[in-house]
Amino acid sequence: MKVAIIGQGYVGLTIAAFAAEFYHVIGFDTNPDVVENLNQGISHIEGVESSLLSKRISERRYVATTSASDISNSDIVVIAVPTPLTKDRKPDLSFIESACRTIGENIQSSTLVINESTSFPGTVRNYIKPMIEKYSNTQTQHLYAISPERVDPGRGDFNQRNTPRLYSGLTPEATARTREFYSKFCDHLVEVSSPEVAEAAKLFENTFRQVNIALVNEFAQISNALGVNVYETLNAANTKPYGFMKFTPSAGVGGHCIPVDPTYLAAIAEEHGAPSSFIRLANEVNLEMSEYIVRRVSEDNGGSLKGKSVLVVGVAYKPNVADVRETAAELVIQHLRNQGAVVSWHDDVVGNWKGESSAPLQGADVAVVVTKHDSVDEKRILASATYVFDTTGKVKGAKGL
Ligand SMILES: NC(=O)c1ccc[n+]([C@@H]2O[C@H](COP(=O)([O-])OP(=O)(O)OC[C@H]3O[C@@H](n4cnc5c(N)ncnc54)[C@H](O)[C@@H]3O)[C@@H](O)[C@H]2O)c1
Repeated sequence: MKVAIIGQGYVGLTIAAFAAEFYHVIGFDTNPDVVENLNQGISHIEGVESSLLSKRISERRYVATTSASDISNSDIVVIAVPTPLTKDRKPDLSFIESACRTIGENIQSSTLVINESTSFPGTVRNYIKPMIEKYSNTQTQHLYAISPERVDPGRGDFNQRNTPRLYSGLTPEATARTREFYSKFCDHLVEVSSPEVAEAAKLFENTFRQVNIALVNEFAQISNALGVNVYETLNAANTKPYGFMKFTPSAGVGGHCIPVDPTYLAAIAEEHGAPSSFIRLANEVNLEMSEYIVRRVSEDNGGSLKGKSVLVVGVAYKPNVADVRETAAELVIQHLRNQGAVVSWHDDVVGNWKGESSAPLQGADVAVVVTKHDSVDEKRILASATYVFDTTGKVKGAKGL
């Protein structure tokens, strides 16, 4: 069985690594550097070991390619391309369209097409299927399904095998074949009655997190205004054995999913005349958190950061990964620079970012901890500046939310 996976990033490569134990996998990606490295057995994704990749390559069970024609004769095609927002924060399906074109132009015989990219309800039925048919030069009818990805890169306890996976096809045959495909490497498959339910569930999962993160971020501001310790209060609330789930405050939300996916839900809601006020407001509160933090830091430092050397500690969007997509550190740095601070950043997990390199963890007037990787020592953070503000709640002895 030949499986083509379109997009070899966090999602696509993770699926490829698991699927290659059971299928012949072709990883198609438009980025030649990614493909070249993968074919040398070098993984760029946390959770996919280079040694496993090399093993699959030597067993001839995995190959990466930039050549679209290599995906012809595939029995299954999985779409795992980005679904970002446009500059004016609208869903950007251009990568999906490009993947559909690759499939339409290169796959001649009937294939199962599964979408793993996150998008709004109706994407498989109303967008992917017609788009592939538009680009196809045959009358071939493919099977279509969705199985939204829930991978949490860098996480040890949940992976492809033990994370329950939702799925549904446009037809019973598509549903059955999708179940058969994933059942080899996923222990908990959850069938839902339509692709739209699976698509909506994925968006709601991330919206639930976005809204609760915004709520706790607002609560951190309320707690500070009242002189109440937010962490102690959250721990106290968390002793309730039911009806409460603890979220912790931060400099904002980052990553590909939480700041982006809820906007897909808001967009489709508004298109159908339904409200999306929570989603829009949560987005605002999370985006404003960086400004609030810089204001607090400035107030603690005599009301001005002009000319002060400020070190931002941790620029990845979450601990122990090198991913900087939509990181809250970007806005924190921007607000610090707007205040006239001389900003550098330290993050040896990220290394290089936006043409700058990780600075030494020492010698600053002010340090602002945005992300605390396990490998970064608390004492070294405290010693890195005269004043340290911690947005993570992990650096004891620092000022914080
Ligand atoms: N990263 C996560 O934690 C995560 C979790 C769940 C769902 N998702 C969703 O999965 C999808 C993919 O996200 P990701 O994090 O893997 O993205 P990514 O940026 O890590 O990888 C995407 C890859 O697709 C390639 N690509 C872009 N256009 C292409 C095309 N037309 N043909 C072939 N390759 C193409 C890029 O070069 C890149 O290597 C998104 O919809 C995202 O929302 C991501």
